[in-house]
Amino acid sequence: MRFYIGIFANMLYNGYNIELIQKRGVQMAKIIAIANQKGGVGKTTTAVNLSACIAEMGNKVLLIDIDPQGNSTSGIGLEGAKEGRGIYDVLINGLTIEEVLVKAKTVENLDVVPSSIALAGAEIELVSFMAREHVLKGALSQIEALYDYVFIDCPPSLGLLTVNALTAANNILVPIQCEYFALEGLSQLINTVKIIKQRLNPSLEVEGVVMTMFDARTNLSLQVVDEVKKFFKERVYTTVIPRNVRLGEAPSFGLPITKYDPKCIGAEAYRDLAIEFVGDFGGSYE
Ligand SMILES: Nc1ncnc2c1ncn2[C@@H]1O[C@H](COP(=O)(O)OP(=O)(O)O)[C@@H](O)[C@H]1O
Ligand SMILES: [Mg+2]
Repeated sequence: MRFYIGIFANMLYNGYNIELIQKRGVQMAKIIAIANQKGGVGKTTTAVNLSACIAEMGNKVLLIDIDPQGNSTSGIGLEGAKEGRGIYDVLINGLTIEEVLVKAKTVENLDVVPSSIALAGAEIELVSFMAREHVLKGALSQIEALYDYVFIDCPPSLGLLTVNALTAANNILVPIQCEYFALEGLSQLINTVKIIKQRLNPSLEVEGVVMTMFDARTNLSLQVVDEVKKFFKERVYTTVIPRNVRLGEAPSFGLPITKYDPKCIGAEAYRDLAIEFVGDFGGSYE
């Protein structure tokens, strides 16, 4: 009880939207890092489209783009960081998330913390910081009562940016591409998760694995799904994301798939994944 009063007092002190807090109570957001140190496996596509679908279901969602390449930022239709500000300024210059977030133009209930090219330097700049692995977690603790879900789109590496995401997160969502060597490198990710659990974030879990770019015309895709299921068992989502040209086109229009082509199979798949994902959390909070 004292814990909740403390959080509430803290939020009042920080000038948060009291009405919103009263409505929502002090339920904390589920924070999910979308991670896999392989590039091109569908992290960003999943971050943008899952965030959009879950927001469209009526949940308050925050999407944080912690990849210097900024593909989530442009994929959701933002030019770049607001006034040049973004997650870099939160990590390095001590700005709050509220100061840098931007509302997604085309999706209600979705806020975005943009990336910027400056973020490429953050990996090195963070090294000399005190509690350098906890910087993002600290920033998120001020706003997590305002959202139902926070998604963090990680870069394709296991450096300090990803470590910050995994330290801040409750869960990890791992996209795996249906291709040869799909499992290659995953032991490294699992090992990193183990170390972070031991040292930085004891409650971190792999929430789920989503198979991406599934091609129904090939046996290979089916074989890869089988292989991954042997390894991750029931943590693999029933929903599989098909290879779909529209999913590849949508980012160049700055639109999530549900706005670009709401009826295509890619949009259907991400809507199904959103339902399965939210269902895993029982649609409620602890
Ligand atoms: N299901 C899909 N069908 C077709 N193209 C896809 C699909 N998922 C991702 N892509 C495309 O594949 C490329 C890599 O995906 P991306 O989400 O950027 O991966 P990551 O963030 O892991 O590097 C992008 O050009 C993206 O548009
Ligand atoms: Mg990406």
